[in-house]
Order: sequence, then C-alpha cells, then structure tokens
Amino acid sequence: MAVCRPQGTHGHPQLLPRPGGPSGGAPGTGSDPRAPGERRGRAVASVVGIDVDQARRDTPGCAHVAHLNNAGAALRPQVVTDAVIGHLQREAEIGGYEAADEAKDALAHTYDALGRLLGCSPTEIALVENATRAFDMAFYSFSFEPGDRILTSHAEYASNAVAMLQVARRSGAVIEVVDDDAFGQLDVADLERRLTRGAGPARLVALTHVPSQGGLVNPAAAIGRLTRAAGIPYLLDACQSVGQLELDVTEVGCDFLAGTGRKFLRGPRGTGFLYASGAITETLEPPFVDLWSATWTGPDTFELADGARRFETWECDVAGRIGLGAAVDYALGVGLADIELRVHELATALRERLVALAGVTVRDRGEHLCGIVTFTVEGTGPAAVRQHLAADAVNVHVTTAASAQLDFPRRGLGEVVRASVHYYNNDEDLDRLIRSLRAL
Ligand SMILES: Cc1ncc(COP(=O)(O)O)c(C=O)c1O
Repeated sequence: MAVCRPQGTHGHPQLLPRPGGPSGGAPGTGSDPRAPGERRGRAVASVVGIDVDQARRDTPGCAHVAHLNNAGAALRPQVVTDAVIGHLQREAEIGGYEAADEAKDALAHTYDALGRLLGCSPTEIALVENATRAFDMAFYSFSFEPGDRILTSHAEYASNAVAMLQVARRSGAVIEVVDDDAFGQLDVADLERRLTRGAGPARLVALTHVPSQGGLVNPAAAIGRLTRAAGIPYLLDACQSVGQLELDVTEVGCDFLAGTGRKFLRGPRGTGFLYASGAITETLEPPFVDLWSATWTGPDTFELADGARRFETWECDVAGRIGLGAAVDYALGVGLADIELRVHELATALRERLVALAGVTVRDRGEHLCGIVTFTVEGTGPAAVRQHLAADAVNVHVTTAASAQLDFPRRGLGEVVRASVHYYNNDEDLDRLIRSLRAL
C-alpha cells in the first residue's frame, strides 16, 4: 500500500465556524471564511499530507469516472478487491470452511484493525452485514416500557427511524426528536433538558452523526458528555462519518456505534460493524441469537457469548470481512486526521464553486460541514441532473424526502443532488462536475 505515511503526526483538524454564525457568510459554503469562488482554479488540499496521485493509482475506478458518490459506496482500493477475490479463490480451491480456517489470522485482524480505528478493544467489535443491522442489533436489545422516551435527532436515517417507530408501536415508548440549534445540528441544550425532564424516563439516545442527506455533523462528543452524565445509553449511527472523520469511541462517549464498510471506509459492500462497549454488552440480550452468539449448553439452556460476539451470526461473508480489514488498514495507512482535513477542503471548495454557479443552491446546514455536499438546480430536477452528470462520467446520488422525513419536509425540500467527495478525488473530478453542470 504505497499511499501509507507515518501516523500520529497531526492533531484534530480545526474546522472553523462560518463568520457571523449560522446566518453569516455565503449560504452553504461551510466553514471556510473565504469568499465564494476564491478557490476556483487553485489546487485544493495543498496543506494535507496525502499522496493523492498515489491514492488514485491504487484505485482503478479513478481512471473511469469522477466518483462523487462516496456517501453511497466509495471506489475501492485495489488491495481491498484483491483481498476479497483472493479469499473467494481459496474457497473455490479448497472449500469454504477450510479457507476460513486458513484465513483465521486475517479474520482476527479485521477486529484488531477496527479496534485501532475506533480506539476500542477487538472484543468490543461485532462484524455484521451493514450499518442497519449493526444499529438494529443494539437498538432491539433494549426493552422499553410504555412512556419510556427514546431521544433522537432530525438527521435520522430512514432505517433507524422505522425501527424506532416499530418499537414505539409495540412497546408504548415515545420517540422524542430533539430540537435543532441555529446551525441546524442537534441542540445540546435541548438534549440536556430532555435527558432529565419529560413525561416518562429517558431510556436511550439513538441518533445519527452525519446524515445521508447533507453535510451536517452532529456534535457527537458533546452529546456523549451529556448521556454519560445522565447515565443514559447512547447509540450512535456513524455510518456516514466513519472513514471520513476521525472517531474515537472514548472521546465520543457512546455505548454503541454502528458503521458500514462500503462508504467512506472504502470496503466491500455487505459489510458492517457494531462497536458495543464492554460495560453495556454484559447487561443486554441481543434481539435474536444463534449457535455463535450463544452456546446451547443443555436441552433447555443456553449461554450468551462474551463480548460483542453476541451481536454476530455464525454464517457470514468471510471474504467481505477480510476485505473490510484490508480497507481499514488502508484508511489507517493514509491517516484519518489527514483524510478528514482533505475531505473538508475538497467539500468546501466544491460548495464554493457550486454557490458561484447561476441557478444552483447549496442545501447543506451545519456548523462544521463534512464531505457530503447537497444542492439543487433551478429548472432541472435532481434525477435529470444526475442523469446528465452520469453521461459525463460523473457519479452523484439523489436523496429524497423518503429517507429524510424528519428533515426535508420542514425545510421545504423534496429531493436534492448529493455529491460526496473523498480524499482520492482531485481538482479534475470537481472541474468535471462543474463543467457538466454549466452545460445543463
Ligand atoms: C446515516 C446512515 N445510516 C445508516 C445507513 C444504512 O447503512 P447500510 O446500508 O450499511 O445498512 C445509511 C446508508 O446510507 C446512512 O446514510
């Protein structure tokens, strides 16, 4: 992996608030105080120590497309594809169980790598199929009484929201959506109030760090400080943040964290993971068990497995899990602090360029914006924009209100175009998007 550079030399990037607070600065230009368009024609990310050319050479897809759909599924480095295919090949050659035995160390390494990525023990990692299943395994482990309150945010992802609605319908628990602050992110003062005051007891805080539908970054660590102080469990959906932002579960202060492989971690599809803190895991029973998450100890008895393994199932995509480990290694090799900085710089540059285009409105809200950039184009619907861009080999996504029911309707939004950048994108990728939009 030639893109590696020494670790630990960079602090957390400083992402500055927009001048003048939420109403200041150009709309949607994020935290960069420069005027819209000022970066045009200049190379971005000049201060970041990532070898972007090498990262692109490591990523065959870069030769074919300007991939700005990293919040959907990022382009994989070749080393990840090789790890997956290598294992599939061994399965074909010697048998699936035998290949898994042979790959025992590589499988164990995936837990170690995720532990390093998130700052936790490998025994606190469960490997599952995707972020939704990770979230569900934690969420459905809690039992709720009528009147119990589940606190969540306006940024909530559709799958999490419908799980909450189902549990509320079954149990009589109440879902409370915490107010936004002036920037559009979760209002920690309102959360603090709701943690201690309400019609019933607050039982769980379950929310999304970075939503699917915009550049917002919820204040995960500030939330964690409050939940810790109140003694309320905290489940964080980090599906869109892991791999683009530096994350440490101790700093965040969450009890559970759900993530996926295929997005900003650049891993295989069909892979996901759950961080489950050792302390809380021992107190919870997963919503369903099998012969891996539990041992059948006698005709009428079973015992749950220790650690996060109790949230896993036995049968799994072994090749995918090995590929996930390779993807995490690759991300750690590039360095999460540098990734966060470069993604922020690219996204800021992109917002500035979009704002400067006639008829384009950037739709992101938040104090600290990440690599997800959303916009609309006057007179052309998001689906038509995506199609037009695809014809110019630019990949973007369309996000609809159906996946943002607590957010889009109250902002008067139906659909937006989502262009999500990653560190391996370059100026030419952004140029191609802008050129294509100009030609609409
Ligand atoms: C914020 C957020 N949470 C959860 C998910 C679900 O992830 P997965 O498809 O891996 O289950 C997504 C997927 O887009 C997402 O954007």
